[in-house]
Amino acid sequence: MEVREDWKATTVYQIYPRSFMDGDGDGIGDIEGILQRLGYLKWLGVETLWLSPVYASPQRDFGYDISDYRAIAPEYGTMESIHRLIEAVHAQGMRLVMDMVMNHTSSDSAWFQASRSHRDDPKRDWYLWRDGRGKDGKKPPNNWRAMIGGSGWHYEEQTQQWYWATFLPFQPDLNYRNPAVKRAMLDHVRSWLDQGVDGFRLDIFNAIFKDASFADNPRSWRPFPSEDSPEGFFQRPLHTIDHPDTLAFSKELRAVLDSYSHPSRFLVGEVFGSPEALKRYCGEHADGLHLVFLFRAMRTAFRAEAFRALIAEYEQNFAPPLLPTWVFGNHDRARSIDRLGGDPHRAALLAFVQLTARGVPFLYYGEEIGMTSLDTPFSSSLDPLAHHYGWVPDLLWPWMKRMGLFVHRDVCRSPMQWADAHHAGFSGTKDKTWLPVHPNYPRVNVDAQRKAPNSLLWCYRRLLHWRRLLPCLARGEMRLFEDKRSRRVLLGYERSLAGEAWRAEIWLNFGAQEQALPAGDAPVAWFSSLEASVEEVAWLDRGVALPMLSEAAPLVSRPTRLRPFEGVLLVHRYE
Ligand code: GLC
Ligand code: MG
Repeated sequence: MEVREDWKATTVYQIYPRSFMDGDGDGIGDIEGILQRLGYLKWLGVETLWLSPVYASPQRDFGYDISDYRAIAPEYGTMESIHRLIEAVHAQGMRLVMDMVMNHTSSDSAWFQASRSHRDDPKRDWYLWRDGRGKDGKKPPNNWRAMIGGSGWHYEEQTQQWYWATFLPFQPDLNYRNPAVKRAMLDHVRSWLDQGVDGFRLDIFNAIFKDASFADNPRSWRPFPSEDSPEGFFQRPLHTIDHPDTLAFSKELRAVLDSYSHPSRFLVGEVFGSPEALKRYCGEHADGLHLVFLFRAMRTAFRAEAFRALIAEYEQNFAPPLLPTWVFGNHDRARSIDRLGGDPHRAALLAFVQLTARGVPFLYYGEEIGMTSLDTPFSSSLDPLAHHYGWVPDLLWPWMKRMGLFVHRDVCRSPMQWADAHHAGFSGTKDKTWLPVHPNYPRVNVDAQRKAPNSLLWCYRRLLHWRRLLPCLARGEMRLFEDKRSRRVLLGYERSLAGEAWRAEIWLNFGAQEQALPAGDAPVAWFSSLEASVEEVAWLDRGVALPMLSEAAPLVSRPTRLRPFEGVLLVHRYE
């Protein structure tokens, strides 16, 4: 039987449920709100929605601390509302991916409550408990550091042992060496798949297995970890991150997903490291995770050579049957447009890369309208990570950010800016919203940009629809044009797919000066990141057929110049 692999051609939109749309007027986004805005997402043209966790949780890490994997947090809705959402998303021909936090639970979960109660409790071994060192056992069992710095061991007076937490202390790690734990977690996974969910985003998947020896991690000189390497806080996480057993587990999880072949579902892992290190999670025979996040693009300099090198590296490491991912932002990072000086034209150029290069794009809510980071003091952050670093004075926060230590995540989680209206149209509450709305909402909002076909929002919309129209963009091969043909500021590549009528030629001008477009064939159509053509608007808004869709489409003249920060996509017919 042929397994459909629709996930390879999809586009993903990340919803941070707390901030997307408040349907019940309590100042907090919810599932009802997402249902209200499905029409917008359909209009935009994204195909898969990924929801950050909506499960029952004390919300100390806003859902990444799950207390019950089979229930929905009351502020977000009920099991009935998530079922309605799954159904409504499917009815629109879209897919729904849930977040799955497998590494740890909330310390409020029934499992951990039992586990911590007594050394003899049957759930004791569901978490990682160890005796301490030193005469009275008051020293942590070994030198392991948490992913966020500091020892990840926490002492419990009641049973006089330490438990391990990769992230914050209220997020104790599960013990996957206990078969009962693995079974229980895989049951959760199956239960959601049975309820129609199309896949999972896997939270800090690189930390699932810790070495059974509990031996010390080797020292290192690196002060901070980065997207490229989990090494930091002066140690190499040999026994805590990327354990061979975790790589093996990715295959076990894949097998569970593959038992649901119709329609095809997928897993995307949050893992950190170089592309060479990350691709191991996909398995030597593409039998591991379907996708892994590649975060390097978030730090790649806004220069043609830098993106050329990045694409070349992705192509080398994620050649078919593997597939790279294109990520510019998420709920843990500064808004991507910040580093572009808030310029929507530059942002549109990155959108061009994201949606026309080979790979699965992941958009973060608000990115499509150019939402910028919220300017809010570090010291009053609601983010538990910021509290963890509470001793750092406000003044040092920008420095930390530069060092790659992003621990004040409120800034990228402000409410979606729907309109120039009360709370930006996010909530009807008379009180405050859970995080303040960014003050630029009267200018930066969906309503305003929906009316302007030359806006960033329309650029995303046009790209998303072109992607759907041209199979070469969603599924085709990719070929970077030779360096000779393009210069320092120009990046060019081609997408093509055997057996298809159309191929796409893409040119991006990363410079602030106009550039001549290299000579080449005349296309049947072309479009620019800076403005929508009349045909495109008619096509998108009124469903008017595009002339290029006919075999006899006439050639149009090839553009000769690229304006500053302009990207163009030229559609060619195969002769
Ligand atoms: C991941 C999530 C982050 C969360 C952490 C702990 O990095 O993206 O938001 O705080 O894991 O679950
Ligand atoms: Mg609400």
